[in-house]
Amino acid sequence: MVKQYENHLLKRIKNQNITKKIQKTILYSRIRQLFPMRKPFYVDDRDQLDNAEIVRIDWKVSVKKPRVGIVQDYDQYPKWTKYRRFLENNSFDYDIYPIHCHDWIEQAKRFDIIVGLPSNSIYDLCECRCKYEILETYMGKICYPSSAHTRLYEDKSLEAYISKVTSIPFANTYISNDKDDALTLIKNLKFPVVSKIIPSSGSVGVEMVRNVKQARRIVNHAFSMSGRKTHLSYYQQKDFIYYQEFIPNDGYDHRVVVVGDWVFGFDRKVLPHDFRASGMGIEEKKELSEESMRIALQVNKIIQSPILAVDMVHGLDGSYYIIEFSPLCQTNSSEELQVNGTPGVYKYEADGSFHFEEGRYWLAELALRQLLLRNYFSNAII
Ligand SMILES: Nc1ncnc2c1ncn2[C@@H]1O[C@H](COP(=O)(O)OP(=O)(O)O)[C@@H](O)[C@H]1O
Ligand SMILES: [Mg+2]
Repeated sequence: MVKQYENHLLKRIKNQNITKKIQKTILYSRIRQLFPMRKPFYVDDRDQLDNAEIVRIDWKVSVKKPRVGIVQDYDQYPKWTKYRRFLENNSFDYDIYPIHCHDWIEQAKRFDIIVGLPSNSIYDLCECRCKYEILETYMGKICYPSSAHTRLYEDKSLEAYISKVTSIPFANTYISNDKDDALTLIKNLKFPVVSKIIPSSGSVGVEMVRNVKQARRIVNHAFSMSGRKTHLSYYQQKDFIYYQEFIPNDGYDHRVVVVGDWVFGFDRKVLPHDFRASGMGIEEKKELSEESMRIALQVNKIIQSPILAVDMVHGLDGSYYIIEFSPLCQTNSSEELQVNGTPGVYKYEADGSFHFEEGRYWLAELALRQLLLRNYFSNAII
């Protein structure tokens, strides 16, 4: 009884806006790391998946089915269990692929396809960027995410650079890896700007910079010998700055997720007296605007990922500005889109229109199906 009350109280404290705000500060993260933390572990939620549709793939008998290696992720809402569900429901041969082990190269020989990433932590990203490069380029494996997309995942600089050389409507972003250049750059910025560290997620490391003095302080710290402290005790912001124009907006981060011609998405609301929405846990599920869906589909024409989450803010000038796009996204339910309370999907039709269809889906299952269609049946439309 006492324990139950304690848990209830803890949950209430955690849900307070002020607690959320404190949790996003560097000081909180640093202090938190001084205390014991639970080691990452694999969640198996197999008994909670069956409220979603069974995703089927039509497989030609003449085509040999690939053997799939699943990389387990440590997420509270894991993807690996959804990959497994899809593979079992479609009678694919699969096994868990222990990517962290010393014999990962030998073990990979058992598979044609490798799917999944352990986490978005810097060390897991470094490890997998290296290993996926070998698996794909030198061992001929199909990887999801591909080695190029593993490189892109959680790299906001790469996203900004790709956008700059293509037609992706990304918010204007100023990145420099040279101190003198950065000091000159900030003199010409229109403040406020948003400073970001890479990698980061859930709004941690995203801060408003109100004037040139504050911007200069960040430059000086980032280009010092030991770099600038971040929320992680083992990682410094060293020799780079990332400033993005601040877009005055409607108070939401709009996420649109595309898988082939299927579109999902929802809004995340900024915390009161804050400008950040990601990771604050205030989700609103409602219809998506056609413009945002068209933008996301257009971005994936360039990025070509089995699944792509595109995050945008809707500026007060009426335009959408992309602030992030990602070839993997966390999904905590099988209802990533709801229109008037009904879970479903928008399907993009050949005539350029969208129509809504009811249904519950695990996006990781759809992503894996899309990967298989792209690689084994070239006219891959789901
Ligand atoms: N350029 C910007 N203009 C206005 N708001 C922004 C801008 N960039 C980020 N934000 C807000 O800050 C939040 C976190 O930024 P984001 O770049 O998405 O980082 P994260 O990787 O932590 O999600 C977003 O959800 C959005 O609400
Ligand atoms: Mg974001």
